[in-house]
Amino acid sequence: MAVLRVLSSNAGRSLLNTEGAVRISKANMSFANLSRGRRAALSVLGVFTAGGAGLAIVLHQAVKASDLELHPPSYPWSHNGILSSLDHASIRRGYQVYKQVCSACHSMEYLAFRNLVGVSHTEAEVKALAEEIEVVDGPDETGEMFTRPGKLSDYFPKPYPNPEAARVANNGALPPDLSYIVNARHGGEDYVFSLLTGYCDPPAGVSVREGLYYNPYFPGQAIGMAPPIYNEVLEYEDGTPATMSQVAKDVCTFLRWAAEPEHDQRKRMGLKLLMGSAVLIPLVYYMKRHRWSVLKSRKIAYRPPR
Ligand code: HEC
Repeated sequence: MAVLRVLSSNAGRSLLNTEGAVRISKANMSFANLSRGRRAALSVLGVFTAGGAGLAIVLHQAVKASDLELHPPSYPWSHNGILSSLDHASIRRGYQVYKQVCSACHSMEYLAFRNLVGVSHTEAEVKALAEEIEVVDGPDETGEMFTRPGKLSDYFPKPYPNPEAARVANNGALPPDLSYIVNARHGGEDYVFSLLTGYCDPPAGVSVREGLYYNPYFPGQAIGMAPPIYNEVLEYEDGTPATMSQVAKDVCTFLRWAAEPEHDQRKRMGLKLLMGSAVLIPLVYYMKRHRWSVLKSRKIAYRPPR
């Protein structure tokens, strides 16, 4: 250890020495000592180098070929405001879109029929919806499994029995569960809306593999989901014109509700909290002033001894 310490302190000293030497030689070669012409030439060179580097960085950012990905804009959702609730007519239409279009490939395994009651449908309507599906239940008294019509407590049916079957049916791509998709993706419903409506032809020089589709919003731009919606992909039961953007907006509202069923409740609680604090905070402030007024307004005087 002792030997080492000596060595290192020696090394430190020699470093110091070389530094000192460098400093001395720099002082001799300083900018101020140069001739006028040289100084001007060096300054011009410096300005050009800095400008050139700046220009190169800007150009590189602008034409970065690896970044063909589009970021979704923020859309003015009707539930965006701090006190705005979800549009429940839109949730109802969105459920219709999910049921008639997306549920062919995507599961929503965390949603049960009972969750729709009082949100988008009445209890009788949801019971009728649930009865449309067949559920395997059992065993009965003979030990056999049997099928029965669905009921309120049943979860949404899955399109595929397992992920492997889902991949085989979709060219190897796995359609993700949609229950929490707007929370699971950057950009939330803005992203899903842009993804659904953003399919287009690939730009010149870009080709996508057979079975994939070009979508500038999808990371990597080649998505395994064929464009699922288009104008008039379905007919809304409430008569709303089913344009592509309307369908996308409704299904996104439905997905936002699915991922955050407490959304309206949360904002209502926030409003109550704000109203409560508006009364309480001034009151507490007044009480605080009152309580402390004796201490705050007292004067301590020094009376010198006679
Ligand atoms: C024909 C089957 C099919 C239908 C119908 C379908 N999808 Fe998909 N979807 C897929 C597949 C397959 C993927 C996975 C794509 C991949 O990973 O390349 C996917 C992926 C997604 C993703 C995830 C994208 C990501 O960022 O990972 C979302 C969101 C989505 N679909 C929404 C929907 C919605 C909403 C509908 C209904 C309007 C729908 N899909 C209808 C097959 C389908």
